[in-house]
Amino acid sequence: MLVLGIESSCDDTGVALYDTDKGLVAHALKSQRNLHKPFGGVVPELASRDHLNHISPLIRTLLTEKFMSVKDLDAVTYTAGPGLVGALLVGAAVARSLAWGLSIPCLGVNHLEGHVMACMLEAEKPDFPFIALLVSGGHTQLVMVEGLGRYQVLGETLDDAVGEAFDKVARLLGLSNAGGAALAKLAEKGSAQRFKLPRPMINRPGLEFSFSGLKTAVMQLINQQTLASGALSEQDAADIAKAFELAVVDTLTFKCARAMKETGSSQLVLVGGVGANTCLRTTLAEKADQAGWQLYYPRQAFCTDNGAMIAQLGAMRLQAGQRDLGLAAEVQPRWPLMTLTPPDK
Ligand code: KG4
Ligand code: ZN
Repeated sequence: MLVLGIESSCDDTGVALYDTDKGLVAHALKSQRNLHKPFGGVVPELASRDHLNHISPLIRTLLTEKFMSVKDLDAVTYTAGPGLVGALLVGAAVARSLAWGLSIPCLGVNHLEGHVMACMLEAEKPDFPFIALLVSGGHTQLVMVEGLGRYQVLGETLDDAVGEAFDKVARLLGLSNAGGAALAKLAEKGSAQRFKLPRPMINRPGLEFSFSGLKTAVMQLINQQTLASGALSEQDAADIAKAFELAVVDTLTFKCARAMKETGSSQLVLVGGVGANTCLRTTLAEKADQAGWQLYYPRQAFCTDNGAMIAQLGAMRLQAGQRDLGLAAEVQPRWPLMTLTPPDK
């Protein structure tokens, strides 16, 4: 079965072809980063319009490059939520119309479940059950994954998501809205010794997170340094970026270790945009080696938003017997992981 997947929940237009026998066939992504740059954040209306301009050409190019046509498709799947309502509706409308025109099944899937299952896109994959650390722009959750559609959230953030904290600190350090990846790049030039920031919530029991205090601590540090030397030098900014990255990575690693211990699980999966962070990947890998668990993560391009995870998830659910006969391009801007159910037969 060849499945076309469409991702349009935020500011990346992603499309992919997934074959249930051969695995991922092709994927393509159009980022809207430059479009939103002047506004310091994603502008929902611009995002929707840009998805509209790019989804169909991206699908056409993807198929043509593989010497295929829409007639080769057996199903279409799209991100139905959570995300920006207008952006989601564009993907939903394209997916539903295409599937209707071709008389093939169409399935709206959950973006967060797509992230969690992205670890299955790689050759080395975990077996159910496993623990997932889902760290993205809107979510920070430790999840017990018992199977497709079977999730138990063990702990989550009480305030800012970790990706959101990366984005805000990046802005405070003058990196405009280039986000976590730009902050991580700056941190590479920073000293790990110069500043020490708090590791929030590690002295409290449980698996909850909180990152808004850390963001405030960074703000105070920036103010202190600016007062002391008139302006923040490039080295100051790099050292602060490093201190922030280490505080986040240590906190996440600490909570993962606690979750592994408390559940007795031996497999940890790192997914979501912040999962692309090299410092987090290497620190968790070291911890996994020491503690004797297996760590799995998708390649960086499949940590951040992409169409491959949506095509794969749709294929998994359709193959497990799920059918969606609705014709409406329904979307759910809020759609927590915990409300999902296994594919209905
Ligand atoms: O999963 P994602 O692409 O979109 C959401 O579903 O939210 O995650 C985006 C988040 C952003 O906050 C971005 O700054 C962060 O992931 N991110 C990173 C890195 N790459 C992306 N954070 C830290 N280090 C990175 N290398
Ligand atoms: Zn995402």
